[in-house]
Amino acid sequence: APGEEGETRIGTGYDVHKLVRGRKLILGGVEIPFERGLLGHSDADVLTHAVMDALLGAAALGDIGKHFPDTDEKYRGISSITLLEVVGSMLTSKGYCIVNIDATVVAQKPKIAPHISDMISIMARALKMEEKRINIKGTTTEKLGFCGRGEGIAAQASVLIKRRI
Ligand code: CDP
Ligand code: ZN
Repeated sequence: APGEEGETRIGTGYDVHKLVRGRKLILGGVEIPFERGLLGHSDADVLTHAVMDALLGAAALGDIGKHFPDTDEKYRGISSITLLEVVGSMLTSKGYCIVNIDATVVAQKPKIAPHISDMISIMARALKMEEKRINIKGTTTEKLGFCGRGEGIAAQASVLIKRRI
């Protein structure tokens, strides 16, 4: 039942950032060699942002804009993995543990498959959870839409959390 030990809750997250020249491409905390990178106030790690929003959503804690406003200078260029650690601690203090995370990166290019195991290991360490509880995958949009034209990259995430206490 709500608020009781064992309660499970679902969360979803979605994010998009624009691809531009002169920026690094960081996805799931991994720097991926590519001729363009994502634009944003932080490191614009769209995958980590979608996962953070899913976690905050599951715990009814709002979203990343509420906790880490992009108008705040202290978040300029900050590693999104550092913010993910903070979100993980917030859930722990609220009495939740993470059952699993499943996320999709929508990008025409580059292929993320070779980097997925590194992303999982970085995100699992940041969230103090087992790697087998995280799944990440990539898909193109068959060249359709803004992702298909390479104008940006989108990510979506689903999470399940469980109340420990
Ligand atoms: O429909 P499906 O996602 O299977 O096909 P696709 O969009 O052509 O992508 C084929 C496969 O490439 C995906 O299943 C992923 O394993 C991989 N992929 C990737 O690693 N990185 C991307 N940005 C897009 C796809
Ligand atoms: Zn974002």
